[in-house]
Amino acid sequence: MGIVTEDVAQVRAVTDIVALIGEYTPLKRVGRRFVGLCPFHSEKTASFSVNAEEGLYYCFGCKASGDPITFLRAIEGCDFVEAVEKLAQRAGIAVRHDAGSPTGLEHDKLHVLKETMERAVAFYHQRLLEAKDAGRARQYLRSRGYGGDVVRQFRLGWAPGGSTLTRALGGDARVLVEAGLARAGNYGVMDAFHDRVIFPIFDPSGAAIALGGRVLPGGSDGPKYRNSPETPVYSKRRTLYALNWARQAVVQTQEVVVCEGYTDAIGLFVAGVPRAVATCGTSLTEEHFKLLARFARKVVLAFDADAAGESAAARFYEWERLHDLEVAVAELPPGADPGELACRDPGALKAAVEQAKPFLEFRLEQVLSPQHLRSAESRARSAEHAVEMIAEHPNELVRDQYVVTVADRTRIEAARLRERVELARRANPAPPQLAAGGRTLDRRGGRLGGGRAGRRSDDDPPPWVGREEGSSLNGGTRRAPSRPSPGRRAGRDALALAIHAPEAMARRLDAALFADPVQRRAFEALAAATSLSEAIDAADEEAADLLRQLTVSEPSAEADQTIVALARAGAVSALARTEAEARSADSGGDGSRLAIAGHTITWLKQQLELIAEPGVGQVPPPQVIEAADRLVAWLAEHREEVA
Ligand code: UTP
Ligand code: MN
Repeated sequence: MGIVTEDVAQVRAVTDIVALIGEYTPLKRVGRRFVGLCPFHSEKTASFSVNAEEGLYYCFGCKASGDPITFLRAIEGCDFVEAVEKLAQRAGIAVRHDAGSPTGLEHDKLHVLKETMERAVAFYHQRLLEAKDAGRARQYLRSRGYGGDVVRQFRLGWAPGGSTLTRALGGDARVLVEAGLARAGNYGVMDAFHDRVIFPIFDPSGAAIALGGRVLPGGSDGPKYRNSPETPVYSKRRTLYALNWARQAVVQTQEVVVCEGYTDAIGLFVAGVPRAVATCGTSLTEEHFKLLARFARKVVLAFDADAAGESAAARFYEWERLHDLEVAVAELPPGADPGELACRDPGALKAAVEQAKPFLEFRLEQVLSPQHLRSAESRARSAEHAVEMIAEHPNELVRDQYVVTVADRTRIEAARLRERVELARRANPAPPQLAAGGRTLDRRGGRLGGGRAGRRSDDDPPPWVGREEGSSLNGGTRRAPSRPSPGRRAGRDALALAIHAPEAMARRLDAALFADPVQRRAFEALAAATSLSEAIDAADEEAADLLRQLTVSEPSAEADQTIVALARAGAVSALARTEAEARSADSGGDGSRLAIAGHTITWLKQQLELIAEPGVGQVPPPQVIEAADRLVAWLAEHREEVA
């Protein structure tokens, strides 16, 4: 972790979460909560809720949830230690790094490297703006359409020849070497970048971590770009150039444009698309996707996706599903890259991004273009190609829609194509699920929810529909969610009360009362912990999510009503089980088992009558409450038989 545990707890405790979140989205007091528009997804009605006392937030729309540290990490894109430090700074308190531990030292080292990198960026930038020897570089950048404003926004630089940086920065040369700014040679330490235009690379919170250096046209030999090596602060697989500048626009629009080159990202900004990022000389990795999923719902690829298409399709679909993102492709004129198009026709670039198509649609357009549909033979061939592409998509409903389009265009019966698609799928089964991932809930109403991996087929309902907690709020529009059962409603109320009015529920609940597995796990975590935050830390992802959600909700029922409802639901299912038991005892000729079951059935029926449905909102009379508490105790005791 790097920071002393008690200090992390203290930072959590002293942070005013309403003030913190209020800097990103206006919050309004409603009862005991604060609500506002969710800063993590775009919405028109407020579904974002904050509980000031507990220091927790929850969004009923996108399910973002957590404490001040989680919030800062998500919104600023920083890591745990950075988030804690920022909060500590806000609160004016000091935190201790695990003294002398490798993580503490490690952290100090990262700090030194970033600071050194920042000084290098400033040095090179100043050289570009002012130095005589940077004249050609300035001229080159102007020729690309970069005015002074662009140079300043992106802090572009110029690395002259010789060892100017090493001399200018001074200090411990080993640090420069470790940061990738200098190299140890036969005659001492020398600059790593010579005669290159510098594109500084920052982490999402704006700390300088690496450099990309481009030669001038007709300039020195070596590769077109020389980039910083991997260092303790720079991992290409995880870094996206320009995310620090794009972040705000990305969060606002929930969309990010990904391209391949630094100059492509800059071109998109210049063309009026300030939500662009670029990979840094690698292909798009899952780590990149994970990072983007913190900020956006839609990823628009603005590079030669056709080339990437074949090999990347399966990965993209898997990432779409795992990270709940939508991947679309901006269609650029053949041979054009965004950087070049931004210069030549910025309007066309902007339009291409705005008209980006879903990945599969984009790929299908390639094989269904008019020249591929001229003859019967070519239509059949195109259909074959299309079938293969469609078969890769994990969602049956999505596949089906494309089948209809292809049928139309190739004049082949849809039923025939559908058959082929399913055949292709059987011949080429899906890769095993990459990771279970706690987030099975689909933020977009199940559009991409129907994964096909594992035991589940598309024809089964996804596991969250009508089965577990969560579906009541987020059952998806695709398949009608079943209405929450009375037992699940009561379980939810009971948990909410256990959080908000623990004294009213003390010693009246038992895990056996929760038929819903997520509710049960949430209750168990709550019962075992001494505080709510401890329970949330200890609970699994789904249960923790539910606890956070309930923390920011008002309980919707009174304690006594809830106990009665829970007892009733528990008794109803206990009754069903005992009746089944009686039938089996009867057919097995087991007289004493039958007698015991009969006795239990009679008693349960009596109790159920005693606590019969009261009128809506009616306060249950004392004898009913007493009977309910008695039933709850009985259910807890007989959990083995009835659970
Ligand atoms: P490009 O050659 O498309 O560069 O490589 P670009 O950024 O569009 O630059 P201009 O428009 O020609 O000036 C795309 C990306 O691939 C990496 C860089 O990250 C570059 O931005 N690259 C390319 C290298 O790392 N080394 C190279 O030699 C070339
Ligand atoms: Mn280019």
